[in-house]
Amino acid sequence: MGHTRRQVLRILGGGLIVAAGGAGVFLGTRTPHRALEPWQDAGQGYSDPRLEVLSWAILAPNPHNRQPWLVRLDGENGFTLFAEQDRKLPHTDPFDRQITIGLGCFLEQARIAATALGYEAEITPFPDGEPDPILDDRAVARVVLREAAIERDPLFYAIPDRRSCKEPYDMARSISADQLERLLALSTEAVSVSGAVNEAEVSPLRDIGWRSHLVESETPLTYMESVDLMRIGKSEIEANPDGIHLGGPLMDSLSLVGIINREQLADMTSSAYQQGLDMYRAIHENTPAFVWLTTPGNSRVDQLAAGSNWVRLNLTTTMLGLALHPISQSLQEYPEMADLLTEIHERLGVQGEERIQMLGRLGHGPDSPPSPRWPLDTRLTA
Ligand SMILES: Cc1cc2nc3c(=O)[nH]c(=O)nc-3n(C[C@H](O)[C@H](O)[C@H](O)COP(=O)(O)O)c2cc1C
Repeated sequence: MGHTRRQVLRILGGGLIVAAGGAGVFLGTRTPHRALEPWQDAGQGYSDPRLEVLSWAILAPNPHNRQPWLVRLDGENGFTLFAEQDRKLPHTDPFDRQITIGLGCFLEQARIAATALGYEAEITPFPDGEPDPILDDRAVARVVLREAAIERDPLFYAIPDRRSCKEPYDMARSISADQLERLLALSTEAVSVSGAVNEAEVSPLRDIGWRSHLVESETPLTYMESVDLMRIGKSEIEANPDGIHLGGPLMDSLSLVGIINREQLADMTSSAYQQGLDMYRAIHENTPAFVWLTTPGNSRVDQLAAGSNWVRLNLTTTMLGLALHPISQSLQEYPEMADLLTEIHERLGVQGEERIQMLGRLGHGPDSPPSPRWPLDTRLTA
């Protein structure tokens, strides 16, 4: 389990971009090769630096891997980012808060990649105003690339290895004070990064995470939004390389013989539904630490900033050899979740207009290396 997939990016007015990196890990015989092609092409053979930058940006994390980005090239050195309207998640993300965070991840990854090519990305968020209460056709950001004597952002090197690690973590391995300090140091004026590593603090968060998972699973509209996006087995992944990936040899076999299918997952009395819950319970229980991001308000610019910070956090955990997994259920804005949304803000002491934008499980996953990928004295911030 674990390797997510990317489609190509369709450029408004014509043209396609594909992305890549780390192709070597995708050699299993059941690997859905077509869906993984974007990784193998990232950063290769583009004469226009914008296209090369975008080929890295489309590897950014985003909700349910819906890849809601749409790009128009402007003039010689600019592009405009829009939200693809049919990639939204209206039940779990009714105000497009999480979609906007994903677009913020995209913009930051573009900015990081630009530094690697010797360009400074000048990003103007929502140049035509902030859409509210949902995103519309207006631009999410205008970006201009300018050649500059700029230092390469070292987080660039973590892009091909970054993942959202949706696995139980090793409870015998804790997060060191040094590692935690590295993550908290990613706080900016716009976004504060907080963490919990002591059992007394972690245990109630684990409990909120699990209870909010149950609420999402027991609420038909939000649960079905996920089930409809599950891609079960190799053929579905090949046909639709977005959504929630249930791949690998076991899923292939179970889906081929009809043991796991969408109808059974949708049936809350089925054993497939129960197995899904058991799998997630193990994931939630095996969480040694958490991190979360808080913004002073909940404007669109706050949400983009949270996305920017999240991708930097995830690239940094990648460099440190740690695993990170967003668990967003308790932060979502639908009536059945309202109590848990309040509870998590109270539990973490977040008050007034402040908003927790992201909550993530932190630990060592099955693929975590025994020691950091990078020496700890590598400077991690640009
Ligand atoms: C705003 C946001 C919210 C997310 N929430 C969840 C979540 O609740 N549960 C989860 O398993 N993954 C969550 N993810 C992770 C995405 O599923 C993941 O980024 C996407 O599938 C692409 O996979 P990758 O990050 O491994 O490249 C979230 C990502 C973003 C940007």
